[in-house]
Amino acid sequence: MARKEELVVGIDIGTYAVKVCQLQKTGEGYRLLAVGSAMVPPDSVEDGALHEPEAVGKVVAALLKNLKIKSRKVGISISGYSVIVKKINLKTMGDEELAKYISSEAEQYIPFDVEDVYLDFQRLPAKKLESDRDDIILVAAKKEVINEYVNMLGDLKLHTLLVDVDAFALNNIWSIGPRMNTNTALIDIGASKMNINIVSEGISILSKDVAVGSEQLTSQIAVALDVDYGEAEKIKIGAISAAGHEEKIHEIFTRICTQWVLEIKKTMDLYQANNPKRPIQNIVLSGGGAKVHGLPEIIFQKTLLPTSLFDPFERIHIDEKKFDLEYLSSIGPEMAIAAGLAIRPAML
Ligand SMILES: Nc1ncnc2c1ncn2[C@@H]1O[C@H](COP(=O)(O)OP(=O)(O)OP(=O)(O)O)[C@@H](O)[C@H]1O
Ligand SMILES: [Mg+2]
Repeated sequence: MARKEELVVGIDIGTYAVKVCQLQKTGEGYRLLAVGSAMVPPDSVEDGALHEPEAVGKVVAALLKNLKIKSRKVGISISGYSVIVKKINLKTMGDEELAKYISSEAEQYIPFDVEDVYLDFQRLPAKKLESDRDDIILVAAKKEVINEYVNMLGDLKLHTLLVDVDAFALNNIWSIGPRMNTNTALIDIGASKMNINIVSEGISILSKDVAVGSEQLTSQIAVALDVDYGEAEKIKIGAISAAGHEEKIHEIFTRICTQWVLEIKKTMDLYQANNPKRPIQNIVLSGGGAKVHGLPEIIFQKTLLPTSLFDPFERIHIDEKKFDLEYLSSIGPEMAIAAGLAIRPAML
């Protein structure tokens, strides 16, 4: 029997929490081995960059230990200002010629100095057979930012075998699901950013990061109710009640969610204008911010598109003796990116 393909341990380092997921490849698909999350100290990760590598390293190490993960092969993803993903259209070239062209001409497509970035690219499947041009997805990620992550993990004796982009990781895990053949807006709402990723038949067509997120709710509740951040967080997720302040809280939720929906609509309109023949059919939400009570309904009312929460474990075999299904479904949305990393093979 062939040796089972080894997969990386997916580590999604967010501004609020580190999420870890480990899967195993089985004949038919994947099996969940470990999953969990732990909060990072406030401001230790910001705009996709690692400000306090030691503090975050401690959180990652403790989480892996808690989850009894022995593998040292990990995959991470980046987002925000440190990475540019751009679609370019070039005349058809062979793989080698294309690689040469990109390394010598990348400068004109990206706002960074080429010396400062790692470059990667992927050819999209041709839309028309007779076309003599190709769409290429070009990814440029700041070396400085990636090196910070890789060094932090290296200090924990972890080998980073994969550096992905949040939006691609999300698309990865979506693509093994049952509805991957649709045109879907995958929207990840984290603590401090929202990624809107429009995928058509498994290919990411448009991806946008917007600086909004669930942390906005916490800070505004803290100010409006004059409570500390921790208490505001608990009020936000409904863990404690804010008797007498319902109206204020309702107003904050309505205002912020309206802002999120406007951003979503703006990006969807841009996509629709460029892709009139491939209308978006549904919206799928991930990230902890997606769990705002009633958010799918609000988005549905404003877009008239079926909107649901992402369950990244839908197609993953779960041993019910080991994992509580209810708990898994409650953490599913924020685990999507870690799961998307965890389906990738451990190869250099
Ligand atoms: N029920 C809930 N309602 C609203 N917000 C929630 C709920 N549950 C969790 N959150 C929020 O989700 C956020 C954490 O989600 P997630 O782990 O996806 O963020 P992150 O990846 O760390 O952030 P980012 O991607 O922006 O760096 C926190 O702000 C948390 O308060
Ligand atoms: Mg995140």
